[in-house]
This record gives sequence, C-alpha cells and structure tokens, in this order.
Amino acid sequence: MVQFTLSTGFPGSWLACCLVIKFEGVAKIRVGCVAALHLSPGYRALFFGSEQVFLTRSFLRLILIVVMDKRLHLIFSRRSVREYTAERIEERDIIALLEAGMAAPSANNRRPWHFVVITEKPRLKKLAEIHPHGQMLNQAALAIAVCGDKTVAPDFWVQDCSAATENILIAAAMLGLGAVWLGVHPREQRENELRTALGIPASVGLLCLIAIGKPKIKPEPRTQFDSSRIHYEQW
Ligand SMILES: Cc1cc2nc3c(=O)[nH]c(=O)nc-3n(C[C@H](O)[C@H](O)[C@H](O)COP(=O)(O)O)c2cc1C
Repeated sequence: MVQFTLSTGFPGSWLACCLVIKFEGVAKIRVGCVAALHLSPGYRALFFGSEQVFLTRSFLRLILIVVMDKRLHLIFSRRSVREYTAERIEERDIIALLEAGMAAPSANNRRPWHFVVITEKPRLKKLAEIHPHGQMLNQAALAIAVCGDKTVAPDFWVQDCSAATENILIAAAMLGLGAVWLGVHPREQRENELRTALGIPASVGLLCLIAIGKPKIKPEPRTQFDSSRIHYEQW
C-alpha cells in the first residue's frame, strides 16, 4: 500500500511543504518531494527533489524536523548533553533513572547490572581526571557508573548494561535532564583505574559512566535516518 501525506510547518521564517510517500511498514518512509520557500526578505528558494543535500544546514535541519515521526519524539530528543548548571538533581529523579535502567531487556533476564551513584564533588572531579574525555564530570551533579557482574552473565553483560545505559539516557531526556555516555569498557587501563577509584570488585566489569546534570544547552532532536543503511529481505 502506498500512502501520501502532506505536512506543512512554519518554524521561524520558513514555510515548508513536505510530501511524504509512506509505504507499508514504519521503516520504509521516504521523502518524495520537498518544496520550501524562505519568507525573510532577500532570500527566496524554491526546491523540488528527492532526498538531496542542498542549501544551508539550517534548511536541511528543517526538513528533518518536518519528516520526523512525532510518535518517536522522545527517542529523537535524547542527545548528548555536556554542559550543566550547578543545580542538584532530586533523589526521586535519581531513583527514576535507575528504575529505567533496570527495566532494560537482558539475556535470559539475568540482569547482571549494578549501578554506582556518585554525587560528591571530589569524587566527580577524580573521575574527570581519570577519564580522558570526561571533563564535563567537573560540572555534573551526578554520575552513574554502569557495571556488570561477569559471574552472573559472562557472555552478555556488555549488551545488558548497554541496554540499561540507553534506557537511563532516554529517561534523563524525559525528566528534562542532560546526560552523556562516557565509554569505559573495553579500554582496559581506563576501566582498571576507574574500578579502583570506585572500589568495584575485579569480577565486575565497568561498561561506562553517565554524566548527568540540569542542562545548560538543549541540542535539537534529530533522527539520523539513513535509508542507505537498510537492506530489505537480504543485504
Ligand atoms: C560507547 C560510547 C562511548 C562514548 N564515549 C563518549 C565519551 O567518552 N565522551 C563524550 O563526550 N561522548 C561520548 N559518547 C557520546 C557520543 O559522542 C554521542 O552519542 C555521539 O556523538 C552522537 O551524538 P548524540 O548522542 O547527541 O546523538 C559515547 C557514546 C557511546 C555510545
């Protein structure tokens, strides 16, 4: 079945019309034709085409906003946030984040995860010193170290903890918090130094740190949808 949808948007001074051809199945959404008109004085552009890169980045962003599926807004709103205000995070929000993490899927439902919650400033600073890309921990109100007990799930602790991490990141966006995943495992030296700093047992892997705070900036939601990465029925 082929379905035609006409959407219009009026963000800023742009008037955009977007014709979306929607095939059966959520993943098969294509931009069929885009026409846009810039309304500010001195600029006028009219465009018809199919999935082409053209004009300015802001123009492109506008088109992505127009074609984003509103039902997935919360997924698209999860963006890495690395700048925070000095505000603290309420205890009930911390518990909500951990509840989201523990709701993740897990192989054989083994749930090998453990979470170290860090809010003390000297400890956050120590983590920032160790992690080579973790300077934002100096500003963060909270860090969560996502750990996996290798004796409980030796084969799948990384996947299980990754699922928990993504749940926490999405929950943070839902709660109006800013967060970023800081990779640790499988960087051995980084993992060992952080494990020592946090007193984590040797049998427990440290997948990542999540730096969290009240956001100073709010990156735009985006899809990153790329039809060239999809292979139907076979590659
Ligand atoms: C395994 C992994 C490790 C990452 N490590 C870092 C990191 O050390 N420092 C950092 O600032 N961001 C880190 N990120 C965040 C990515 O840079 C970010 O997700 C990517 O640029 C896409 O941007 P977005 O999260 O806003 O969509 C990491 C993400 C993943 C999945």
